Amino acid sequence: MRSNLVMIVAGTRPEAIKLAPVFWWLEKIGVDYVFVWSGQHYDYEMSRVFFEQLKLPEPDVFLEVGVQASNVSEQVGLLIQKIAGEAKKIQPSFVYALGDTNTTLAAALASAHVGRPFVHDEAGMRSFDMTMLEEVNRRVADAVADLRLAPTKLAVVNLLYEGVPRSSIRLVGSTVVDALMHIVSNNLLKKEVLDELGIEPEGYIMVTLHRRENLVDQRLHVAVSALVGVARALPSFKVVFPVHPHTRKRMEEMGLFKRLEAVDNIVITKPLGYLEFVTLLQEARVVVTDSGGVQEEAFILGKRIVTLRRTTEWIETVVLGYNQLVPIDDVEKMIKNIVSVAEMPTLPPPDLSRCPLGDGQAGRRVAKILQSLLESGIERWQGTFKMPMLVKEQENVSLCFSADGSPVAEGEATYCISRMETPLDRLRSFVEVDWGAVEE
Ligand code: UD1
Ligand code: UDP
Repeated sequence: MRSNLVMIVAGTRPEAIKLAPVFWWLEKIGVDYVFVWSGQHYDYEMSRVFFEQLKLPEPDVFLEVGVQASNVSEQVGLLIQKIAGEAKKIQPSFVYALGDTNTTLAAALASAHVGRPFVHDEAGMRSFDMTMLEEVNRRVADAVADLRLAPTKLAVVNLLYEGVPRSSIRLVGSTVVDALMHIVSNNLLKKEVLDELGIEPEGYIMVTLHRRENLVDQRLHVAVSALVGVARALPSFKVVFPVHPHTRKRMEEMGLFKRLEAVDNIVITKPLGYLEFVTLLQEARVVVTDSGGVQEEAFILGKRIVTLRRTTEWIETVVLGYNQLVPIDDVEKMIKNIVSVAEMPTLPPPDLSRCPLGDGQAGRRVAKILQSLLESGIERWQGTFKMPMLVKEQENVSLCFSADGSPVAEGEATYCISRMETPLDRLRSFVEVDWGAVEE
């Protein structure tokens, strides 16, 4: 028997944070759901603390996959098997998951395996770096989705480039903007965390580092040397580093943890709760990170960001001049870049009403879309994919779109863009979104 409810699947820190605004709105407008927590993340600091601070509902099903799985393939295998088992039992109208984690990937594949429709949130994000597991995960999740909720205009364009039908895409914004603004505007910040860590506003550089591809031997060595170098080059600043458990484990195995601990102005902590972390982001001089969510949040708070990667899926933050990509390769170059960003003047936070990443209403948009899907029903995609039209514009091959983002011929287009070669000033005005009010 099919149930008229949504099966929501999540299992990691960023999913807990980004889904909180969706849950708040689902409760408010009264939508039935079953919440499955995969347990990919399981430490208190990586999971439970977010349930408490962001008032997430208790999961209806807890799969405990993280503790059982000893490597990625085993983890993904178990996740698919267990999520598919739940989907078979629950028979939801459809499955909804967000992001690019192994839990998201497994939710997408499990839905396909048991023949339930799948809605993917944070669809269309692309770093174009296939060495990131997350890039693989998000591409697969987008490919099997029946409805794709895109956080940015570029995400919509990325999907269109891949031939995804416009009718299966909705532009909603990123829900992390809602979560962040909820903390800031309700004054839930925990200023005391600065005293506890012995730091002053604007007197420290905030660091996070956990991507699997950055934890391989040579890169982790280089990253740690660069952080030590930055701390030495800026003795009046502190370097604050809440360490992901995986990073900690790798640094301990490689004897790097002691190197960081030995530097007076490097402050190492366990992963922090969301309220504490956002407080530290807001007061930081510069944010150095390889995290997706942290790039978004730092941008919304108007911080300068150094992203320790070759590419980013949050391209808007680079285009608008807040974010610099500094790959982990050459120690001296990294130190020079980070120090120079720390010395740059501060930037104003972006105007939320036109912010490329969202206006703080994404959770509401998503909840209303999920509600309408329950009312109207959603079927698995039966159509065929058509490639959008490619247009040659001067020297660039571009894609042209009407105002609503449908691919059209150049003469009828409201805008044409070439993803790789569009001059920055054109891209800058392109990425802004005129969000307007959420329809009642
Ligand atoms: C996952 C996501 C990544 C996201 C990150 C958020 C994938 C492919 N990647 O990466 O996109 O940015 O979560 O933090 O899913 N561990 C613990 N305790 C925990 C969780 C993890 O000790 O509560 C350790 C374990 O040694 C585990 C390792 O961290 O093997 C990696 O965890 P895993 O969930 O596989 O991937 P993340 O690197 O956290
Ligand atoms: N975060 C947190 N405490 C920390 C580090 C990060 O609450 O010690 C939050 C951060 O504010 C952001 C999210 O975790 O919302 C990002 O998660 P992560 O970097 O693990 O994953 P990613 O966004 O890279 O997938």
